[in-house]
Formats: sequence, structure tokens, C-alpha cells
Amino acid sequence: MEDASREQWGSRLGFILAAVGSAVGLGNMWRFPYVTAESGGAAFLVLYLVMVLLVGLPIMLAEFSVGRGSKKSPIQALAHYGGPGWKPLGGLFVLTGLLILSYYAVIAGWTMRYTLAALVEGFQGVDAAARFDRFAAGLDAVGWHLGFMALTIAIVVGGIKKGIERAALTLIPLLFLIVIGLDIYAATLSGSGEGYAYYLQPSLDALMSPDVLAAAAGQAFFSLSLGMGAMLTYSSYLSKEENLPQESLTIALSDFGIAFLAGLLVFPLMFALGLSGEVGESTVGALFISIPGAFTTMGGAGRVVGFLFFGALFVGALTSSISLLEVVTSSAIDGLDWTRKKAALVAGVGIAILGLPAAFSLDALSLVDQLAGNVFLVVGALMLSIFVGWTMDDPIAEVRKGAGDVGWFPLWRQFLRWVVPALLLLVLYYSLQDTWAMITGMIG
Ligand code: PHE
Repeated sequence: MEDASREQWGSRLGFILAAVGSAVGLGNMWRFPYVTAESGGAAFLVLYLVMVLLVGLPIMLAEFSVGRGSKKSPIQALAHYGGPGWKPLGGLFVLTGLLILSYYAVIAGWTMRYTLAALVEGFQGVDAAARFDRFAAGLDAVGWHLGFMALTIAIVVGGIKKGIERAALTLIPLLFLIVIGLDIYAATLSGSGEGYAYYLQPSLDALMSPDVLAAAAGQAFFSLSLGMGAMLTYSSYLSKEENLPQESLTIALSDFGIAFLAGLLVFPLMFALGLSGEVGESTVGALFISIPGAFTTMGGAGRVVGFLFFGALFVGALTSSISLLEVVTSSAIDGLDWTRKKAALVAGVGIAILGLPAAFSLDALSLVDQLAGNVFLVVGALMLSIFVGWTMDDPIAEVRKGAGDVGWFPLWRQFLRWVVPALLLLVLYYSLQDTWAMITGMIG
């Protein structure tokens, strides 16, 4: 039952850049540095890379095999291989997409506001913390949140080739260029050496802590856009038999590369400007206060660097948000027979409304981030691993198309059966504990 009317990517590069665009986002440049700082610097970096390779890659390949194999959006793709009993997992994916985008767009709205602030006031005049208070919650935040959602909807309405692929082809190379340029600039700051040292010298005892392990796994899923069907959906628009293992590796390494490069930027910047005390601050806003604080002390250069820095954050957030909205949109197109325009509009407006609490309260925002990012994504990935490991008929046959027959494919499946679920159960245990502590902390 191949659907001839299904949209397709225009080129292999278009698919790869769109998937890299989904992966690279606020997770790399905002979440990664502060989670790294919170979790012992370089030790976390090592564990994170291990998680990307050990759990991230197998799950990405699993999403690709289900997506390309079925050529359907998540709910129907799972039903295609597993029967209607698996539809609720697809439903969880859609729900997770709705929830993540609802607060992600609020933070993305901040990045737009900060890009403008860099241009207009060059981060002079106002105290950084006071500025954050003004921008982050309240009517200001609501306005930019809605504006950002309107932009996201407009691109998704444009479709796979003319909307999403075109945006990725222009924005992603730009993003890489800006980040590399800023890295070079950061290296010239005096005092940056301390920042590199903090970032790149592992403290080995932190490596052994289960909390750090759970944080590394959660961050890997979030950053690679796994566990909620984004990669599944994107791969359902593949027309030819691409080499899926190779594409997974390219995407995962690009994502890790940008996260790593973002660290090479953020840490020297903070240390060179004597803000090292703030590095470990765990609140969602740390980066939005300390980094602009650094730009303030840099004077005229701060205006240019600040504009590029927040501009890059904004670009990354946009290409990720379109993938989140696409999961919901494609599900409505396939499941409800809606046109793309109607699906993207209704879903986008619904998500914009759902995000209002996060635009008014940082507590609400952190709570949804913890719940969707660290719990739902892990549950989603766990179930998908079980699905492809045990239920799906012959995932290896799907992967073989375009990749030939490679000796480690059976090993991949065994990994999905045993190793990945065992690790994820452990991770889930710690994530649930963290979530519970957060909830009781907010009530108490
Ligand atoms: N990967 C994106 C980021 O790092 C966030 C995201 C999560 C996007 C889940 C899609 C799905 O910013």
C-alpha cells in the first residue's frame, strides 16, 4: 500500500540537513553547557559521548527503519508493523511533541528577543538579571512565543521540500559557520584557557555517579531528537534507499560536534570574563543571564558577538521546532485526512496556547522540560527499542536496503532487545526520582 501522493525530500543532502537541523538546537547550545556544568564538566562530556554511541545510535537506526519501512507518520507506522495495540505508543510520541514544542517555543522566543536586544541596545544599560526577568516571563515572553510559533507554522505549511528542506539547506550551514567563527573569537580572549581546562579535564569520580549517567542519557535523547518520532517521521519522506546506518552516524556526529563546539564557546567566554562562579548555576535561565552579562563587559564587540550568538540559537531552535510540529502535523494529515495547511495551523495554534503557562512561569517551564524531556522521551525510546527488538518482523531487512549486509546488524537487534532496555530502565528510575524531587520541591 505505497502512497504515491506522499511528499518526499528533494535530495539526500536535504534529508540529512533537515535531520541535523532537528537534532541541533537549544539542546546543544543552551541545555548541553548547563547540564555539563551541573554534572562535573568533562566527565559528563565523556559519558554523553558514550550514551550517544551506545544508546542514541541504535535508537536512531530503529526510528529510521520503522519510518522509512512504513512510509507513515508515527501512530500508523507502529500499527503497520505491530498492529493497533501499538497505536498508544504513537500517541505518546505525538503528545511528547506537543509538550516539548509548547515550552521550547517559549525559550526560542527569548532567543529572538535577545537577538533584537543585541542589535538595538548592544546589551548595555540594563542589568543582565533584570533584563532576563523582564524578557523571560510575562507579556513580553508571550508575544515572542506567539511570533516564533507563527514562523514555525509558516515553514511547516510550506511542506517537506519547499518548507522544511529549503529552510534547512540555508540555515544549517549558516549555523555551523557562526559557531565556528565564534569559537575562534573565544580562543583569542585572555583567560579562556581556564574555561577549556574546566570543560576538558574529567574529574573521574563524577563518572561513576548514576545521576550523571541518567543526565547524560536524557541529554542524548533530547539532543538527537529521539524517543518521540521526529526522526521516524523525517525518514518516512525518504524516496530512495539511503544507507541508514551511515546517515545515522553522520547526523549523530554532527549533533555531537555542534554541542562540543558550543562548549568551546560558552566556557571560555564565562571564564575569560570572570563569571566562572555562575557556570554551575542550574536554572534554565543561567545562560541567558551570564552570557549577556559577558557581552556587556565586552562593549562594542559584545553587540556583534551577541547578535551572532543569539542569532545562532534562534536558527537552531527554528529548525528543531519545525521537526516537532511536523510530527504532530503529519499525524493529523495521515490520521484525520486533513490538508497540510489545516493540520499545521490547528496543531500550531493548539501548541501555542498550551505553551502559555510556560511563558508566564519559569517553574512551569522547568517542570514540563523535566517531564517531557527526561521522562517521556526515555519511555518512548524504551518502548521503541522493545518494539523494534522484539515485535517488528524483520527490521534488519529494512536496514539492509541501501546498506548491504553487514555483520553487526544482528548485533544491533540484540542490543535493542537487551542492552538498550536495561540501560533505559535504569535511566528511567533516576529520572523519575529527579522529577519527583522537583515536584515536591515546588509544592513544599
Ligand atoms: N534536538 C532538539 C535540540 O537539541 C530538540 C528536540 C527534541 C527536537 C525532540 C525534536 C524532538 O534542541
